[in-house]
Parts: sequence; structure tokens; C-alpha cells
Amino acid sequence: MKQSIHVKAPGNWLNDPNGFIFYKGMYHLFFQHNPNAPVWATMHWGHAVSRDLVHWEHLGIALYPSVTGDRDGCFSGSAVEKDGVLHLFYTGIRYVGGTREKRDLIESTQLHISSEDGVHFDNENGKQVIIPPVLDPEQGDKADTRDPKVWKTGDHWNMVLGTTDHGRSGMLSFYRSEDLEHWTFVNSVSGREDMGWMWECPDVFPVENEYVLIVSPMKILLDGYENENHSICMPVAFDEELCSLQPESCYQYMDYGLDCYAPQSTTDEEGRRVLVAWVRMPQAVDGAWNGMITTPRVVTCRDRHVRFQIHPNIRKTFSRPIQSPLQAQEGQYLLKMCLAEGQSANIGGFVLTRRNDRLQADRSAVYVDKPDARLRTETPFIREGDLLEIIVDPNFIEVFINDGEYVLSNVVYGLDPGKFSVPEDSGAELYTLG
Ligand code: FRU
Repeated sequence: MKQSIHVKAPGNWLNDPNGFIFYKGMYHLFFQHNPNAPVWATMHWGHAVSRDLVHWEHLGIALYPSVTGDRDGCFSGSAVEKDGVLHLFYTGIRYVGGTREKRDLIESTQLHISSEDGVHFDNENGKQVIIPPVLDPEQGDKADTRDPKVWKTGDHWNMVLGTTDHGRSGMLSFYRSEDLEHWTFVNSVSGREDMGWMWECPDVFPVENEYVLIVSPMKILLDGYENENHSICMPVAFDEELCSLQPESCYQYMDYGLDCYAPQSTTDEEGRRVLVAWVRMPQAVDGAWNGMITTPRVVTCRDRHVRFQIHPNIRKTFSRPIQSPLQAQEGQYLLKMCLAEGQSANIGGFVLTRRNDRLQADRSAVYVDKPDARLRTETPFIREGDLLEIIVDPNFIEVFINDGEYVLSNVVYGLDPGKFSVPEDSGAELYTLG
């Protein structure tokens, strides 16, 4: 199965991106996957590959539950390459009591599996437990320690895991290894109590002269609307030797549409830091598939502000000018325009307005009818200009503001390509796939 621009569930269910890596000339993107129904359940790893981050091909299931430690699911994790071999790290879940309702009886184990070609994984004999369920609360939590992100610093490997400090705040737990097989605990760092009780999918990486921390805290936004878990980011001073950092008290959201979650970064072919995230959808499309992945975003940091830009390969692929969204290939197009204070644009029923120097999105005409639906979102105060680059796909719209100052993305249903209006002086240009 082939897809372009956005990786979508190849049927049934998809959540977090996993094991994102450029390996032996190909981008590999694994993802949390339930192959049996369009709802979250026992997790497998699905697998898609691409030569250019634009065109993707699904290769089927890479990991499935097969040993005691991952009996009830192969949760999220990451990939690295060492001496030409692809190494995956992930969290195995086991419900000792038979169901996930009994939190005391959930065990999280960190596992490792490798592959010589990035495609074949020996699920029956190739899995190795590297960190058994954590029993010391200073280091983590037996039930909720997960999502290993591994990277190389100097001649050793670091791993960060997301966990909770006694259920009160999120916590990061750092490990180190010389050989990717033997891991020792180095340090743990707790977040503030008003920044979620558990931190999922942590990612710590260098950009230019700084480090950026991205985490996905659970229950960070309790405003009554859908999705209480949201991904945040901030520049941090990270000590590579001690694995210590001080989480900032002020943070940005990774995406101000508040639909994207559990991002993971890697470096692309050219050494850029690129990040993808899970696009949470409240309803399966045609009852057939639920969940997609954002386009890759280039992460940079300027004046202590984390920026997310359109990846150059995505921009380049939208090369064929069109006059109207009705001419777009498979409903996919890039809209470039300027939106000045007080102006609005209507993109198939999805309305963007610049008001009080914030960009506001209103999807009330193109969303599902549910009482807690988050129909309107907005960015913080915009400082840099009024340029919007908008990637439209029939169920997902990504709005990049001023080449990365902010991103605001929203899931939509029933977009009408015949409905399109932008201000006359907006300089709008439309491009579909070349
Ligand atoms: C984030 C998450 C991860 C976990 C995975 C399970 O969305 O909850 O923490 O590993 O999804 O599917």
C-alpha cells in the first residue's frame, strides 16, 4: 500500500510514530498499530518506508507480542544504527492480572531487538530484556515507565524514558550503555506538578547550540475539551555526562491545533533535525482507518523559541500550480498566502482568522458532532509577520506560520473543495503534487 504526504493507518488503528530513522538509504517509520480494528487495543509496530519523506510504502507488521514481557503489547520506542545494524528499543506491556484496569498489576519492561536489513525482525527469538520492570520509585514506576528514546553522545549511548514521580508529576529517567545491550541507570529529573502526572514519549536532542526537550504529559490541559494530554517543548541546558536538565516553567505547545501528540525526532539525510507526530482522530474515516502522522517538520531554535518548519522535500513536492482546490490531486495541496490582522480565509469550511495578532482556527463546520469537541484553537501572539503555508489533505490541515514561528494543525471531516475564499490581497498561491 502506497501513500503520499501523510502516513495513514493502513487500515484499522495507528497511534505514535516509533523508530523513525534514516537507515541504509531509506527512511523507516514504524508506528503503534492495532491491525484488528480501528480502535486502540493490543499494540503492534506497523512499518512504512520512504526514499524522500513524501512517498511512503507500508511493509506490514514489524513487531508483535511474542514474549512474556510484551505479552499485552509492544508500546512505543525508537531506533538507532550501529555498525550497519538497525536496533529497536521499545516498551513491552504485561497485564499480570489479565486486564489493564488493575494498575498495580501492570508491568513495563524495556526490550531490544535488532535487524540486519531494517525489514526483518525475529520476534520469536530476537527479543532481549534490557531493563526489567523498575522497582525503585526514584528511578521510575513499575506500571508507567516507557517509550525509550536512544541516541549517541560521544562513545556511549543515552536513553531517556518517560515515567512518573509517585503519580504526582512527570519524570524523565536516564540510562547509559556502551554496547546497546547493558544499560545502567544514571539520573532522573522530575517535572512540576502542574505539568501532568506522567510524561510519555520524551525526546532530548541537540539543535544548533542548544538542547530541546519534548515530552507528552498526561492530563496537562484540563479545560473540559477532548484530549487532556498534549505535547510540549522547551530549550533546556542538558548535561550529557550527568544526564541532568532543568525543565523550564514556561513551555510551548508543539502544535497549537492541539490534535497532534507523541512526537518523535530523528536526523534526516542532510543532518537536519526532523520530527513527526501522531494525528489523533475522534472517528475512523469510512469506518476503516483511524490515525495518521504529520508531515516531517524541521526543528530549530532561535532566541529560545522552538520552531517547526515545513520540510524542504514536502515544499518541493508541491510544484504544480493550480487555480482551485478542485484541481488538487487526491485533495492534497499547498496554499501559500498572507493573512493580515482582521482578515479570514475559508478553506473548504475550515476557517482561519487573524485576530489580536493570533491565528484562530474554527473547524465547527467540518468536524464530528461530540459534546467535548475542541472546535476552536489559536496560537499565542504572533511577532514575525503574516505568512501562512498550509498543507491541506482531506482529513488534516497543517498551518505553518512565518516559516516555523508556530504550527497549528487540525483534523477535519467532510472538507468541501468547492468552498474556498481568501482575501483579495492575500497573494494566495496553490500548488498540488508535481
Ligand atoms: C502515547 C502512548 C505511549 C505508549 C503508546 C501506547 O500515545 O500512550 O506512551 O507507549 O502510546 O500505544
